[in-house]
Amino acid sequence: MYPEFLTNANNAGNQLALLSFNYAYKTEKKHKVLYENALAALESNNVKSLPAVFYVCPTCGNTYETTAPKRCGISMTSSEKFIKISTENL
Ligand SMILES: [Fe+2]
Repeated sequence: MYPEFLTNANNAGNQLALLSFNYAYKTEKKHKVLYENALAALESNNVKSLPAVFYVCPTCGNTYETTAPKRCGISMTSSEKFIKISTENL
């Protein structure tokens, strides 16, 4: 759905919508891989192989496993603003 959203935002000249949909599209591509990895781990009864820590960019939702770069690769948000999510205490 995002390619169509991007086209519509571009045709409407709505730069804010274009930026937002671009962030969401790129981030959801990464989330798809994370979901596929989690599902494969569940199906192979190997959940402990999954990362215990994730870092989420509050600007675009981009998610990093285990470690984070200094800036988000999608929105360039500083990693100091990232939200750390740990499964270690679950
Ligand atoms: Fe980001």
